[in-house]
Parts: sequence; C-alpha cells; structure tokens
Amino acid sequence: MITERGGILDKTRVRPIRHLMNPLDFTVDELEKLFDLAGDIEREPAKYAKVCEGKKLATCFYEPSTRTRLSFEAAMLNLGGEVLGFSEASSSSAAKGESVSDTIRVISCYADICAMRHPKEGAAYVAASKSLIPVINAGDGGHQHPTQTLTDLLTIRSLRGSLSGFTIGLCGDLKFGRTVHSLINALTRYSDVRFIFISPEELKVPDYITDMLDEKGIGYEEVISLEDVIDKLDILYMTRVQRERFFNEEDYVRLKDFYILTKDKLDKAKSDMMVLHPLPRVNEISVEIDDDPRAAYFKQAQYGVYVRMALILTLLGMEPV
Ligand code: CP
Repeated sequence: MITERGGILDKTRVRPIRHLMNPLDFTVDELEKLFDLAGDIEREPAKYAKVCEGKKLATCFYEPSTRTRLSFEAAMLNLGGEVLGFSEASSSSAAKGESVSDTIRVISCYADICAMRHPKEGAAYVAASKSLIPVINAGDGGHQHPTQTLTDLLTIRSLRGSLSGFTIGLCGDLKFGRTVHSLINALTRYSDVRFIFISPEELKVPDYITDMLDEKGIGYEEVISLEDVIDKLDILYMTRVQRERFFNEEDYVRLKDFYILTKDKLDKAKSDMMVLHPLPRVNEISVEIDDDPRAAYFKQAQYGVYVRMALILTLLGMEPV
C-alpha cells in the first residue's frame, strides 16, 4: 500500500516506512532531536533498557565490519531488543546468487529493522526500495556511510558543544573514503565550517564534492602536507588508506604510509584540537598519541552506540515525543 507522500505502509504500522540512506535524509532540526535523544540515552541508559522488547534488528553485512555491526547489535541489545543476521556474504544465500532485493523481502518477514553494509554503491537503496521494514545504509561501497556521519556529528557536538564555527582537516584517502564524503556533505549545512583537504594527489577528494562546495560558495583548501596546516585545525579527521578499494597492490603499498600522525606532529597542533578517526586504523595514527587528551577516536566509537540507539528508536517510531 502506498501513502499519499509515496511512502510504503507495512502491514502492522500506520506510518510510512522511513529509511536512512544518506545523512542528508534527516533535516538539521531532525538531527538536533536525534542528538538530543542520544545525549539523554548517554545520561540515563536505564530509561531505555526495555523500550525495544520484542523488536528485532537484522544486521546484513556483505563486507567486513567491527564497529558498525557490533555497535548496531549493542544498540539494539541495550534497548532490550534482539538481533539476528550475517556478517559476511559467504555465509548468506548471496553466495548462491540471491539478489539483495529478494534477501530484504525475506528479512522483512523476520525482523523489524535492518542495517545493511554492501560493497556495491547503491545496494542499500535497492534494498530500501523493496523492503517492508526500515533499512539503514551501514556503508555502500565508496559511496556513503551515514551512521558513521551521525557518530562523527554527535562526537563533535558533544565534545565541542556545537556543529558550527571550526576548521576541520580531513586527511588521508579522500577519494575512496565514504566516511569523508558523507561527513563533508553533512557539515555543509552548518555555518562557518572551513574545510582543509589533506591528501596525496592520487587520493584527492572527488570532483563531485568540490563542485558541490563551489556551487554552495563554501571555501576549501587542498594540500598535500599535514605538517603545513596542522596548527590551523580545530578538528583533524584522519582516515585509513583502504587496501580493499585499490585496483593494484603497488599503488596501495606506495600510498599506505603517506600520513602517520606522530607525537612530534601533534606537538604543532592547537592544545584543544580534536583528533577523530572512523577506525579501523592501520599505521596512520601512532599508538603513542592514544593517551593524548586530544585523541577522541575511542570516545567516537562509544558515541556510535548512543546515536545508533537513538536512530533505531526514531526509525521504529518509538522515540519519546
Ligand atoms: N568505522 C567503521 O565503519 O568501522 P567498521 O568497518 O569496523 O564497521
């Protein structure tokens, strides 16, 4: 059954199914509500410990993950719900040739909400178009990773108090890094955010991103040297050079250690600069800085649980009003 607004109605609810494909699917006001809810969950977790009793989350991961899959599962368990799913394509019927469309129709019979990661760009959109339950894009190829962006925004908002008025340096693989693409898109909606893109020539941010910034009149710098700009940054967002996105091993080996954030480099940064990283890291952040108060990447992983709890509640229509 299709609603007047084009949303699909499922059998048991009288509200359109809402998916999350892209961080821009939520308005800035809706994000504020989501982050307020995540903040309340952080302060008073016991209040939410049973709200999803009887609900099930399916995690359908066709690509490896530690944080996204397990934080989704932790989020649903923290809400009193249950989880089911698969963590690799080879242990699902995708290995026998089943399509994403058929898989999600079947998962719709077993679960109330689904988080899906897939190596192909657009796979989550295909799933959402056939699904009878909310689908969350947990990463589609090099395209989008909206829940990482929600995590990043909540971390910045919680630790800085605002999502406006700072200079952010994004460093590393800006070409294939879906977390970077999603975050830049999301940050363009806040005022006075200045971007510095730090990458080797081969891993520059794609033209469609710089074209979008040009169209919106948002300024940015593109540089190769991290040392040259680190003292200007309020936030440094480090990323991994992703072996799995390279077409040949030679290029990967040549670029993988291009940036390594060491204590010496961090000494040149502002005393309150925040270091973020979606993780996993390989060599790009030296472990010697993990205990520096500016290193916020493990806190970021914790915020990922709160924001996913808030997201599950919101997409299931169970958020407090
Ligand atoms: N940040 C992130 O997406 O990590 P995983 O690949 O471990 O899920």
